[in-house]
Amino acid sequence: MSNRNIEDHVEAAKARGESGKLNLPHYLFRMSFNLVGNRMLSRDLFDSQSREGPEFFQAMDKFIRWGGKPNIADFLPFLKWLDPQGLKRNMLRDMGRTIEIVARFVNERIEEHKLGKEKAMDFLDVLLEFEDDGKEWHGKIPHEKIIIIIMEMFFGGLETTSTTIEWAMAELLRKPETMKKVKEELNIVIGQNRKVEESDIDNLPYLQAVLKETFRLHPAVPLLLSRNTIQDTNFMGYHIPKNTQVFVNAWAIGRDPDIREDPMAFKAERFLNSNIDYKGQNFELIPFGSGRRMCVGMPLAHRVIPFCLASLIHYFDWELLDEDFTSTESLDMSERLE
Ligand code: HEM
Repeated sequence: MSNRNIEDHVEAAKARGESGKLNLPHYLFRMSFNLVGNRMLSRDLFDSQSREGPEFFQAMDKFIRWGGKPNIADFLPFLKWLDPQGLKRNMLRDMGRTIEIVARFVNERIEEHKLGKEKAMDFLDVLLEFEDDGKEWHGKIPHEKIIIIIMEMFFGGLETTSTTIEWAMAELLRKPETMKKVKEELNIVIGQNRKVEESDIDNLPYLQAVLKETFRLHPAVPLLLSRNTIQDTNFMGYHIPKNTQVFVNAWAIGRDPDIREDPMAFKAERFLNSNIDYKGQNFELIPFGSGRRMCVGMPLAHRVIPFCLASLIHYFDWELLDEDFTSTESLDMSERLE
């Protein structure tokens, strides 16, 4: 896995004389896009030679923004037909564009297979191995679903990854002593003479604790995917009728004062020497959900996020600019659904 992108962008920004200021979220989102593109399609979507890359990025970016906007018609269903904010209309348009582009990527790959072009297998190749060819029906994936699965991976993996890193950096900037401890750990484990490698991550317990604390306070999907009860259910003394839509609030669980001391404070230390993990077995920390519907990208995020965070902190010194922020307390930490 390469960390060239984010490093290159930061270095290029410095070279352009923007050394003082950096719009980190902007680069983090692009890094996530390229990451998913490489993993799913073996495509460097920000390659200057790629025409479809920027086109796909724009359509996907808009599609994600429409998808995240609160829709008044969800609260007042009688307005649904009117689509008062135009969300459905806009989303359908941009979804149509992304489908077209992904369909092109998939078809190009099918042609490459026909020509016998050899390369290391990626996620799309695996999906195509299971493509429904009309001969068998059991367990095969129809062509259109392959396109949708690829889109889902982008949809699920972009903002979640980039905003988690952004929150971690924001918390660290507010707590210089915690940032210092992460840097010290990186200096001891990696030193000044080589780059961070993926294999280093297991030897960075403090960085991992920072990440868990970030997931606790800022889960990227605060309300997990909604569930439906398939039968009348009794849960912790509550009667939940059949066919009820149930939301699990991972955000509130993370901040529950009955589970944790001083729940609103960012204290990475609470996860040092703790067995609590975010892989779906410890219900007090479920940023990736749990059970069969759990995030499919978790193993990827589990490697990439600490790697990216470690790279950012190890190579660069970070501080809030005085002109923007008079104190670490003035950093805007408010959350919004967008
Ligand atoms: C910080 C990183 C991430 C977080 C916090 C996160 C969180 C989640 C959560 C909470 C769910 C719903 C699980 C549930 O309700 O039990 C989910 C689903 C999903 N995630 Fe992630 N995710 C992350 C990264 C990724 C990445 C990198 C990918 C793909 C490359 C991805 C792809 C998906 C997909 C496709 C689903 C939908 C699964 C389904 O429909 O059942 N996620 N994610």
